[in-house]
Amino acid sequence: MATNGKLNRKLRMALVGGGQGSFIGRVHATAAVLDNRAALVAGALSSDPAKAKASAPDYDILPERAYGSYAELIEKEAALPADKRVDFITIATPNHTHFPIAKAALSAGFNVICDKPMTFDLKQSEELCELVKKSQVVFALTHNYTGYPLVRHARQMILAGELGEIQAIRSNYLQGWLRSRIETGGQKQAAWRTDPGKSGAAGSFGDIGTHAYNLARYMTGLIPSEVSCHLKIFEPGRQLDDYGHAVIRFENGALGSVTASQISHGRENDLFIEIDGTKGAIAWRQEEPNVMTVRRNGQPHALYTRDPNAPHLNESGKAACRLPAGHPEAFFEAFANVYRFAYDDMVKRASGEKFSHIDTIYPNVADGVDGMNFIQQCVASSHENGKWLSLKHPALRR
Ligand code: NAI
Repeated sequence: MATNGKLNRKLRMALVGGGQGSFIGRVHATAAVLDNRAALVAGALSSDPAKAKASAPDYDILPERAYGSYAELIEKEAALPADKRVDFITIATPNHTHFPIAKAALSAGFNVICDKPMTFDLKQSEELCELVKKSQVVFALTHNYTGYPLVRHARQMILAGELGEIQAIRSNYLQGWLRSRIETGGQKQAAWRTDPGKSGAAGSFGDIGTHAYNLARYMTGLIPSEVSCHLKIFEPGRQLDDYGHAVIRFENGALGSVTASQISHGRENDLFIEIDGTKGAIAWRQEEPNVMTVRRNGQPHALYTRDPNAPHLNESGKAACRLPAGHPEAFFEAFANVYRFAYDDMVKRASGEKFSHIDTIYPNVADGVDGMNFIQQCVASSHENGKWLSLKHPALRR
């Protein structure tokens, strides 16, 4: 554990969510310790207090720090001496719970790692943004696809102008797991995602469309101006969209599209993005994340590989690698890269050094507002038959 610098100790983590039978909490717990810079020491792992405590041994959390609720976790941890209490709280619970948990955590001074979409609605996200700015905690949002080395490499290439002016972006996230109404048969992850009281105003667009949108924004840095969207519910009886297309106009004149589907047979987590610039085009797919194609008219297509020792990989790409080329890195490592760079800021905060809330390599609270604004405007546009609506928001990353 050499990388926490001046702090000279591991960061202490608490996990909210991740109880038995859940999905992403375990991914957080694994990614958070990948670099040996943190230890998971406390948790409120389930909405059911008995299950929360019963789940604690799965994470080696001691019984005295296995709490029955997030409120108890925050109250008891805040009362511990500074050399015992947790440094940060990870929120891996369904969408409707993110805001109250995040608000309580940061009001008590804890750094927060929150899963996406950031909140239930736009208003909550704006309030959270204000609270983060006032509280001066580190806040990271796990749009984990931003952590892939070749995504970071592409971002640096694009921001340096290597593809010229960006004119077109196609970002798609296709799944097939909600092709039938498995939510009626007790599939837990499907049940809350298709429930408007828990998921939010959108279904597929909130769950995965927001990832595709965030990736387009992250890789290009372009500022959106307007959106026109059509959302559909193809499975009869479902209350939230399971398919949709959005067209986005960007301030620089570029045109983008986001497609999200949860009803496409055989698609697993097929997030893929293509970006066209005046000097070149790139294509990247998260199911094959260690390669990226760069095309320029009149030249052979170039296949970039994730190789930290190759001269073609830029500084940003290299900083996101752990293994030599040919040993595939994927979901856990990308997730861990959100943590890695948030840890650098947590160490700065703990050491009394300045850090930025907005200018971060990892998605932050402003990106969370951007995502919620996107969801809100897509739903509103779709209700008005695809009417063009503004995507401008004062919180947007510039
Ligand atoms: P899940 O349903 O598998 O697990 C949710 C867990 O949170 C359960 O253990 C549940 O008991 C617990 N929980 C619910 N309310 C709670 C409360 N008030 N206090 C403590 N624990 C509580 O859900 P899943 O799939 O793990 O998703 C969780 C969140 O992560 C969602 O916001 C989802 O959008 C996001 N997610 C992000 C992914 C990514 O790639 N970044 C992938 C999957 C999910």
